[in-house]
Amino acid sequence: MRKFIGGIAVLIPILLLAACGPDGSILGQGGKELKLAHNQSLDHPVHKSLAEFARLVEDKSEGEISVEIFANGQLGSEREAIELTQTGAVDLSKVSASALESFESDYSIFSVPYVFEDYQQFEKAMNNKEVTDRLYLQTEDIGFRALTYYNAGERNLYTKNREVKDVSGMEGLKVRVQPSQTSVGMIESFGAVPTSMAYGEVYTALQAGVIDAAENNETALVNNNHGEVAKYYMYTEHQIVPDMLIMNSARFDRFSEEEQQVILEAAEESTIYHEDVWKETIKENTEIAKNEMNVKFVEVDKQSFIDSVQAMHEDFAQSEKTGEIYKLVKGAAE
Ligand code: GCU
Repeated sequence: MRKFIGGIAVLIPILLLAACGPDGSILGQGGKELKLAHNQSLDHPVHKSLAEFARLVEDKSEGEISVEIFANGQLGSEREAIELTQTGAVDLSKVSASALESFESDYSIFSVPYVFEDYQQFEKAMNNKEVTDRLYLQTEDIGFRALTYYNAGERNLYTKNREVKDVSGMEGLKVRVQPSQTSVGMIESFGAVPTSMAYGEVYTALQAGVIDAAENNETALVNNNHGEVAKYYMYTEHQIVPDMLIMNSARFDRFSEEEQQVILEAAEESTIYHEDVWKETIKENTEIAKNEMNVKFVEVDKQSFIDSVQAMHEDFAQSEKTGEIYKLVKGAAE
């Protein structure tokens, strides 16, 4: 029944999106009103940066192009948002790079645990044009391109009631991961039991005990309320997975060169804007989680986690599918 209602909830907005414009074009496919889908709440830092993107697009195009944002996963999970962007039912969506892994294997690079030693290495890779050109344009043949990325912090483990000090403490723990094969492999390498599910289901799954743990940045605790049910947050810093802003390729190509420039500039500027909003929110959220939600923040023996995933690095570097992107990103990061 829940699935059925959920299906209807997803279908209604899609039907609304398919409303026809005055020239018979499908809104979101024809006019200059762009629809953008994402799964975060209105007070999440990524939403604020997407709103800034929308403002910049409108401003730079002198009101010619507008962007309407559908937040809170109203149009479905990230997987569904990617599929809607592929078909052009929505023009843009913001999704985690991990969710893109099953569409384009290059995106798996971000889910390889400890591929970056720290955020500086990640930034270096993302400021390398060879890396971003390859990633952003790689998916054109499957219907979309990326415009930019947003900092989504370092991903850390959080549990309902187990304090984990090193990787041996992971044994038997049921951990939710994003729908990413690489993340599944990571949790197995840690000695725990992975379950992949859409983000919107994590709170209930934690509460009901279907899973014991999840892993994400600090906004999960406060913006998504997971701190109400998860009381230990371990600084494992195992992944730095950016959020990606993707756009339907045909829709992008129908804009004039000048308009494309406006969209790309707005995207890039919103990424810069996002950096400060992000840092501020992480500081605030950590305080709120500690003081108001009684979440304990725990330092771990990070090296034990790093050691447990060395074989994954060798596999990635040697695999025909991922070897090239692995070497490119590693080279750019160092
Ligand atoms: C991050 C990311 C989301 C994603 C979520 C997840 O919060 O910003 O886009 O959905 O991780 O773990 O699924």
